Amino acid sequence: MLKSMDDFLNLYKQSQEALGREKMRILICAGTGCVANGSLDVYDEFLSRVKEQNLPVKVHLMEEVDDEPHALNISGCHGFCEMGPLVRIEPGGVFYHHVKKDDVKEIVDKHILNNQLVERLLYTHPVTGQTVATQDEIPFYQKQTRVALEHCGRINPDDLNDYIAHGGYQAITRALFNMTPEKVVEEVLDSGLRGRGGGGFPTGKKWQFAASTQGAKKYIICNGDEGDPGAFMDRSVMEGDPHRVLEGMMIAGFAIGADEGYVYVRAEYPLAVKRLKRAVAEAARTGLLGDNILNSGFSFKVNIKEGAGAFVCGEETALIASIEGERGMPRPRPPFPANKGLWNCPTIINNVETLANLPSIILKGGKWFKGFGTEGSPGTKTFALAGQVAHTGLVEIPMGISLREIVFDIGGGLRENKKFKAVQIGGPSGGCLTENHLDLSLDYDELRKAGAMIGSGGLVVMGEDTCMVEVAKFFMGFVQNESCGKCVPCREGTKRMLEILTAITEGRAGEEDLLLLEELALAVQDGSLCGLGKTAPNPVLTTLKYFKDEYIAHIRDKKCPAGVCKALLDYHIDQDKCKGCGLCAKVCPAEAITGNKKEPHVIDVAKCLKCGTCMEKCKFDAIYTA
Ligand SMILES: Cc1cc2nc3c(=O)[nH]c(=O)nc-3n(C[C@H](O)[C@H](O)[C@H](O)COP(=O)(O)O)c2cc1C
Ligand code: SF4
Ligand code: SF4
Ligand code: SF4
Ligand code: FES
Repeated sequence: MLKSMDDFLNLYKQSQEALGREKMRILICAGTGCVANGSLDVYDEFLSRVKEQNLPVKVHLMEEVDDEPHALNISGCHGFCEMGPLVRIEPGGVFYHHVKKDDVKEIVDKHILNNQLVERLLYTHPVTGQTVATQDEIPFYQKQTRVALEHCGRINPDDLNDYIAHGGYQAITRALFNMTPEKVVEEVLDSGLRGRGGGGFPTGKKWQFAASTQGAKKYIICNGDEGDPGAFMDRSVMEGDPHRVLEGMMIAGFAIGADEGYVYVRAEYPLAVKRLKRAVAEAARTGLLGDNILNSGFSFKVNIKEGAGAFVCGEETALIASIEGERGMPRPRPPFPANKGLWNCPTIINNVETLANLPSIILKGGKWFKGFGTEGSPGTKTFALAGQVAHTGLVEIPMGISLREIVFDIGGGLRENKKFKAVQIGGPSGGCLTENHLDLSLDYDELRKAGAMIGSGGLVVMGEDTCMVEVAKFFMGFVQNESCGKCVPCREGTKRMLEILTAITEGRAGEEDLLLLEELALAVQDGSLCGLGKTAPNPVLTTLKYFKDEYIAHIRDKKCPAGVCKALLDYHIDQDKCKGCGLCAKVCPAEAITGNKKEPHVIDVAKCLKCGTCMEKCKFDAIYTA
């Protein structure tokens, strides 16, 4: 149990020495994606193969092993999940992908015993066709700058000593012993850090408010709800570097005078819950959480609260209600939580990524942080890159780089050489941007000007065959389902908007419906109580603004230009391609296909149910939609 700063420095020295003694570090990704693809089996296989070779091996940093041990560690997500399971080997940062249990013997025999690379498991550059050995040489990583994700994929999330060896808990000790709470707030103000949970409110300003509010008891809440569909940035930080999140909370606690914190994490993130719980227990056991930490006079306790997984519970007043055991519903603000929050005490709610930036800001200074990004949006931002882009995954980029760089340089462009059409950015609160926005600087203010939002960092890339009305309908369906129902504009308005969008995609809408849709969108935006309703119309408004012709085509011509909306498509048989095999007629549930053997068949459009079965079955690609 550490009782003083000297004790901490001793532990730091010991863990650094243990790290320095490692001859080789083998990191097997144990993020959710890689675990789902069998990375824990890969880990077990490594362990038995390395032992079989009688190599000195350790699975915890401080394990007592002969000189120069081989460290075998699980790690958090590296971001390039589609290539998983991933194995990274230090020194050198060698990067093996799609590693299966059966590949382990070869890696051990060649790389670990003989320092030779296993070529077939290295990344092949898509343009040059050459293999690259290290992670840093892969285009996906080259334009990234890692601050919040600094240690993700590099340290063992289940080992406090590994975090300490990599500089962990240095920031909070610096704050406790060399800074005043006011100085900490000042440093964060200087950094210009804006909340990464979606709103982009300056973190330092929010803290200033809570710090100056009187209260015997104050709280820090870490918002790990992450309800946006497809987002997994916060999950990856909580799973891959849980101590960093705790350290960020402690820094925030010290700054505002709070002695207790909650991590609100959805129960659908069992790995994050497990790793956070373990980190809290380990930090408490070591004396880095609890009463009078390192004899500094500062006490801090952390609780983990598992949320049931409702999008609206990410909204701060709903989140507080949920922790208090009430139904997670927003309430009007003011009073703001910084004034009257959890159990009516001053409370600061910060997003996971916001908190994960803090240790670096305290250690390296606000000015250092401001060196990345743009004047109005300093620092870096993580994004979950998804959709039709060649490389999907988790990325962290300096604010201000362009969408083009993300989509084409990091993401490798569109899959199957599809033509770029749009990006949906910011999840349900965000909007859709077009080819004309590809050179837009990615920061809070530029995106807002374009009608979109950085939000929490969802970024879905869409190709030519995406229907933008369908996209708007998808997000509207999501928010309509997630609306808590407390206020009428959101509860009824999103429902009506969804009905209109559905009617458009089914060819049942008239042009007057477009006007009504826009009118409703503005009313929902204006009249809703919380951010869910206020931002819910964004995907609709941006698609209406940038892709109006697609809406018109659905309404006027009863056509879906992208060929997606089933109700507006008819199935046909290409008379030149059809061989008359009859398979389609056999599987058609509506008996809509007729034709003689070995002669071209035809579909009776009036009878067709548009089920698509015939198209799936035809081996000659003769069936098409139009
Ligand atoms: C409907 C809704 C859902 C939200 N979901 C999240 C979330 O999952 N995670 C998060 O950090 N913030 C979420 N927010 C924003 C939070 O309410 C809050 O602004 C944020 O956690 C503050 O932290 P920050 O200043 O560090 O960004 C959501 C807001 C709304 C309106
Ligand atoms: S805007 Fe929607 S989610 Fe927010 S309080 Fe109103 S009904 Fe609930
Ligand atoms: S399955 Fe294809 S080739 Fe065979 S009859 Fe139908 S359309 Fe023609
Ligand atoms: S889409 Fe379905 S219902 Fe229509 S012709 Fe093909 S199999 Fe028959
Ligand atoms: S989970 Fe392994 S790279 Fe993301």
